[in-house]
Amino acid sequence: MRISDRIDEVRSIIGRVRGNGDSVGLVPTMGALHEGHSCLIRRARQTDDFVVVSIFINPIQFGPGEDLEAYPRQLQEDAAVAEELGADLIFAPTAEEMYPPDFTTYVEVGELTDKLCGALRPGHFRGVTTVVSKLFNIVSPDRAYFGQKDYQQLLVIERMTRDLDMPVEIVACPTVREADGLAVASRNKYLTPEQRAAAPAIYQALQKGAEAVKSGASAKEAEEMVAAQIENEPLLELQYARAVDPRTLAEPGSAGPPMLLAVAAFAGDTRLIDNIVVEE
Ligand code: PAF
Repeated sequence: MRISDRIDEVRSIIGRVRGNGDSVGLVPTMGALHEGHSCLIRRARQTDDFVVVSIFINPIQFGPGEDLEAYPRQLQEDAAVAEELGADLIFAPTAEEMYPPDFTTYVEVGELTDKLCGALRPGHFRGVTTVVSKLFNIVSPDRAYFGQKDYQQLLVIERMTRDLDMPVEIVACPTVREADGLAVASRNKYLTPEQRAAAPAIYQALQKGAEAVKSGASAKEAEEMVAAQIENEPLLELQYARAVDPRTLAEPGSAGPPMLLAVAAFAGDTRLIDNIVVEE
């Protein structure tokens, strides 16, 4: 497995791979690899001939006061995990390599990005779509793999690739959970033992809400039910509990499925997100 921090080097490696007629799969990450990323890498390994894992803590998707400085940085550990899973190349550029001082071009998806997390983290999705576009241009993957835990991110990236005719297939992989239901995430590392014990209340609340939706509950009823259960847990501070149309993230047209239940909550300073899609 190779590790490169240079765009021109990655381009020339990919050029040779393509010259052999091999397909390329990309797993974009910010590092601190966990079981959720492992699942994406395994899926890419099963499908594509050449697997690239990008590791880049993208500064432009963090807002002021967010955890850019504290975000876990562990390239050697991550490289060992990726190699063990059969990745062929790690692309781990510096911020200067990705964003030279006169960088001034951004990619922005409208509509979907002003809801849920987008409403509370202005500029976040613009940062995500800009860096993902750059990664697509550098790696030119046939397929790119994203987790459903970041449901809104997945939807926004699907829309971007469709709207801009990017020749990349977006492959969605299910949320990976700990045994007690907590969605696996890099930020779980920040949790104290007490916060960690409280955090599964988010998924429990989502499950309860999903059962209600299956029985015909309206979006408002589901939101109130999920919110009440999370607010019952003193170590969690709810940011939002929303029940929306899973395709548009707008108010659902009717009660019952299909519905996306999405939550963001703080455990101390750690922001946790999770969701369940209640299918029709
Ligand atoms: O989901 C993430 O880790 C990041 O948002 C991504 C897609 C790698 C872009 O920086």
